[in-house]
Amino acid sequence: MERLIKFIDEKSVLVNQEIERLLPKAELPPATLHEAMRYSVIGGGKRIRPLLVLMCCQAGGGEFDEALSAACALEFVHSYSLIHDDLPAMDNDDMRRGRLTCHKAYDEATAILAGDALLTLAFEIMSGVSSPKKSLMCVKTLARAAGSAGMVGGQMMDLEAEGKTIEIEDLEIMHRRKTGALIAAACRIGGIIGGAESETLDKLCDYGRNLGLLFQITDDILDETATAEELGKTPGKDAKSGKMTYTTVYGREEALNKARELAAEATASLHDFGAEALMPRLLVDYILQRKK
Ligand code: IPE
Ligand code: IPE
Ligand code: MG
Ligand code: MG
Ligand code: MG
Repeated sequence: MERLIKFIDEKSVLVNQEIERLLPKAELPPATLHEAMRYSVIGGGKRIRPLLVLMCCQAGGGEFDEALSAACALEFVHSYSLIHDDLPAMDNDDMRRGRLTCHKAYDEATAILAGDALLTLAFEIMSGVSSPKKSLMCVKTLARAAGSAGMVGGQMMDLEAEGKTIEIEDLEIMHRRKTGALIAAACRIGGIIGGAESETLDKLCDYGRNLGLLFQITDDILDETATAEELGKTPGKDAKSGKMTYTTVYGREEALNKARELAAEATASLHDFGAEALMPRLLVDYILQRKK
């Protein structure tokens, strides 16, 4: 685990430097929009998705500096999804990454546009990573994961299920889409840039799908068990908003069992890899045990 922490600490610095470089400067007009974009991405967030891109690039046989800008593109899409997730029309949250949500620090229109601009910036970046062939594969992977078959579709299901009970199978589909899809895409994109063949890409993607569902289940558990300081966001919101989550549906103990099963499946997805997949392997337990 120490090696993973070292990897996370070191690579987060590189990711943050690249994020800083890729974001429009705050002074550039329209300055409010660019400030809001920077406010939401810089200075917070665990950077799990960009780190996964780097780890899976390495697992796929590449050098991680090749994947640095693609890694940031994933973080931009994720940050956009958080800005919109927090809007009054969605989860209506005041706190994110330890400070005011974007629409509270600025206003709703600015938050909507900052999200839109981060999403489109991500595709501009993705269009220029590596070779044209790899770039096209990455764009398609990201588009599918972010859209109605992935994150946006899952968010719609989440909102439609508020205050209702949905089928257990739909709960899993919703979580796989709203959170799992982007995490699986991060793994596939890392593999693509690393030069992995299609069979290897599928294994990395399977790993990401299992890890992604695990990640949202732990998010659901932490919503009940963690403090605002640990989370950087308001805890206890899910039950209050009548959300369908793994804890509200299964209870905490059973949710934790599901998380453990998925952790085992994520590890099993990496069975055929050697030392090159050490970091993604170690990350499974890190996510299972996370407190923030
Ligand atoms: C929060 O994601 C939203 C979910 C998809 C569960 P993270 O827990 O990765 O949030 P940051 O990026 O660290 O703020
Ligand atoms: C959000 O899930 C998933 C996204 C696509 C942003 P949540 O609504 O549970 O995320 P938090 O708890 O607000 O971070
Ligand atoms: Mg939500
Ligand atoms: Mg939310
Ligand atoms: Mg949550």
